[in-house]
Amino acid sequence: RQGVVQIPVVVHVVWNTAQQNISDAQIQSQIDVLNLDFREKNPDVSQVPAAFQGLVADAEVEFFLASRAPDGSPTNGITRTQTNTASFQSDDRVKSQATGGADPWPADRYLNLWVCKLAGGLLGYAQFPGGPEATDGVVITYTAFGTTGTATAPFNLGRTATHEIGHWFNLYHIWGDDGTGCTGSDEVPDTPNQAGPNTGVPSYPHISCNNGPHGDMFMNYMDYVDDLSMVMFSQGQVDRVDACLDGPRQSFVT
Ligand code: ARG
Ligand code: ZN
Ligand code: CA
Repeated sequence: RQGVVQIPVVVHVVWNTAQQNISDAQIQSQIDVLNLDFREKNPDVSQVPAAFQGLVADAEVEFFLASRAPDGSPTNGITRTQTNTASFQSDDRVKSQATGGADPWPADRYLNLWVCKLAGGLLGYAQFPGGPEATDGVVITYTAFGTTGTATAPFNLGRTATHEIGHWFNLYHIWGDDGTGCTGSDEVPDTPNQAGPNTGVPSYPHISCNNGPHGDMFMNYMDYVDDLSMVMFSQGQVDRVDACLDGPRQSFVT
């Protein structure tokens, strides 16, 4: 692809209590975060340790709330659906009106984001490229979406969406999803081999899998640290985003 890719977004707010019916302003705060994080414009990128600074990369992807609905009519890119479902799980029920949720817009033209109450402390989940169109997109709990309103620390900086959209672009967890072993890989050559997920606010360096002296790249969006600790994609990850936009998600490249 050539240059920056612009992704039309539709946010489906599926609410049971009035508090879950988050404001347009909170939704825009999330879009704003994405446009910083995927353009390497987030001010906190300055906290990347010197040893990793040369690996930080601009993903050259931007996001905007759709201005046209699938039928061509004007829209603010937000749908609002009241539901009887008190909370959802990672079973995709939120993605269909028939199961208490909201139907997606065509997944080859829109990034579908669903915001609802997720049960069990789940912050969000994503579908990787190549899956069924009817369930393509990202789900985020209403307390971890955007930076205002119901967004709650330590997940109130919009990084759950950054992380999940990373998956939507075919990025794997940085520790390779093998529990705490050293055999799993994220298929990215410039991220150090890492044992398991990091959580909270780690101090640098955190060494695992003989990856010293610099250790884990725990400040990466694809780890499990708190929002304020995740601040970068690597060049190798951006190469995977590029491959995704040249392949399964090429319909977004105009
Ligand atoms: N799917 C992950 C979870 O629900 C998302 C983690 C996002 N991390 C974050 N700091 N926002 O745990
Ligand atoms: Zn994840
Ligand atoms: Ca790696």
